This record gives sequence, C-alpha cells and structure tokens, in this order.
Amino acid sequence: MKRHPDRSAVVTRLRAAGCVFAEDEADLLISAADPPERLADLVDRRAAGQPLEHLLGWAEFCGLRVGVDPGVFVPRARTALLVSAAAAATRPGAAVLDLCCGSGAAALVLAGRLRPRWLAAADLDPAAVACARRNLAHLGVPVYQGDLFDAVPPERRGRLDLVVANAPYVPTEAVPLLPPEARLHEAPVALDGGRDGLAVLRRVARGAVDWLAPGGHLAVEVSGRQVDAYRVVLTGLGLVPSVVHDEDLDATAVLGRRPG
Ligand SMILES: C[S@@+](CC[C@H](N)C(=O)[O-])C[C@H]1O[C@@H](n2cnc3c(N)ncnc32)[C@H](O)[C@@H]1O
Repeated sequence: MKRHPDRSAVVTRLRAAGCVFAEDEADLLISAADPPERLADLVDRRAAGQPLEHLLGWAEFCGLRVGVDPGVFVPRARTALLVSAAAAATRPGAAVLDLCCGSGAAALVLAGRLRPRWLAAADLDPAAVACARRNLAHLGVPVYQGDLFDAVPPERRGRLDLVVANAPYVPTEAVPLLPPEARLHEAPVALDGGRDGLAVLRRVARGAVDWLAPGGHLAVEVSGRQVDAYRVVLTGLGLVPSVVHDEDLDATAVLGRRPG
C-alpha cells in the first residue's frame, strides 16, 4: 500500500508529543483529513492534546463506530464490561434506558444485543443529547434531555427492565489529576461525581427503585474502591447487588436487581 508522503513526519511529531500509538494515530488522522490540507491542523491539535476521537469525530466502542462531538465524553473501552453485564442480566425484548448516555454508545450496542421492545437514552448536557440523537436516529431511539429520570416520560415509571448508567464517578478532588485529554476536553459534568464520586450514582439508585419494573436491573460502572460503598447504597434501598470485575479492562460494574 502506498504511504502518505507526510506519514513519517506526522508519526515523528505525534511521538514527540507523547502519543503512544503514534503510527496508528497518524494513519487515522491522514484518513480523516478531508480535504488533505486539513492534515496539518489535525496534527497540530492532536499534538496540543485534543483527544484523537474528537478530531476524528468518532470512537470505536464494542466494535461499533460511535460519533463523538467536541466536549462530549469519549466512550471508554472499559465500559464494554458494563454493557455486557447489563445485557447478560436482561432478556431480549426488554424496556431499556441508557441514563447519562453521553454519545449514546451503550444504547447503540444494547440495541443490537437485546433488540429491546422500548429503548431510550437521556442526558443532562445538551451537547451530549445532540450527539446521541445523531447516533441513534437511524434506530428511532428517542434521546431526552434533563436531570436523570426527570427527563424520562412519566408513563415509563415502574416499567423499565434495565437502566444502564455510566454516570460520572470521579471524586471531585481527583478530577484535577485526570489526564489533560479528559480534564480539558470533556465536560466537567461528565466526570465529576462529587465528594466521594458517588453523588450522582446515589441519586441514580434512588430513582431506579421507582423506575424499575419488579425483577428489573440497574447497571452502573464504578471504580474498584467504590464497590463496597455502592453495594451498601443499593442494599439500603432494597435492591439486590452483584458485582462483576474485569482485570484486563480495569473495569468494575455493579448491578442492582429490584426484587419481585
Ligand atoms: C462518564 S460520562 C458517560 C457517557 C456515556 N454513558 C458513556 O459511557 O460514554 C457521564 C455522562 O453523564 C451525564 N450526566 C451527568 N450528570 C447528569 C445528570 N444529573 N443527569 C443526566 N445526565 C448526567 C454527563 O453529561 C455525561 O454525558
């Protein structure tokens, strides 16, 4: 295959800027540069620390290409565990909500895996909602804007079989320690989970008690250090917790089942 004439210069520049996968990134930026004169600007912006996915306009998630707009949370590889655990706990034909949906990546994957009878997504951030709407439009999946369950049509209360929520869970004091790509280029509301990181997730669990159907599941992602505290939250609300962990993905998901 004929290599782009600027490829080695691009690789050198990206490597000098600290990009670990400089060769792969160079190829992706070269193929994204349309018209080709855009390449220099893309490389400048990547070298200055903008996330690759925001420059490409998409991220790969669970084998799918998911559109990601500037400022919107880039779906992480580790969230594949949350999606798989949620799908494994839920029958096909379920009513499913992707809460705190960001780009709508989880909803997109669950649409294919579960063939839900009802599927929707919701987020507080207008930029995320616009991005998710674009990603999910071809499936006819509605994306609502608002604070957690306030965004969801009230007739769904008590009728959801699965609420999957990759909500923000970084403790406030750890946000400044995140890599600059996240800290500077993703919305703070996508990252900051309050004092212990569980502020939003506690509210998600309180809401789930009302919105889940009997036997339905809440599925969330947490850090390994938050598992015990969140288990206590779920148990205190009458949900039955279970935990899955994947060492390779460095990922932890907690499920809470509404008895019945
Ligand atoms: C960590 S990002 C995850 C996005 C997406 N679920 C994913 O895995 O790629 C968290 C998302 O939660 C949204 N969010 C934060 N607080 C919220 C709230 N109170 N109500 C609804 N969405 C919220 C943010 O806007 C952001 O899109």
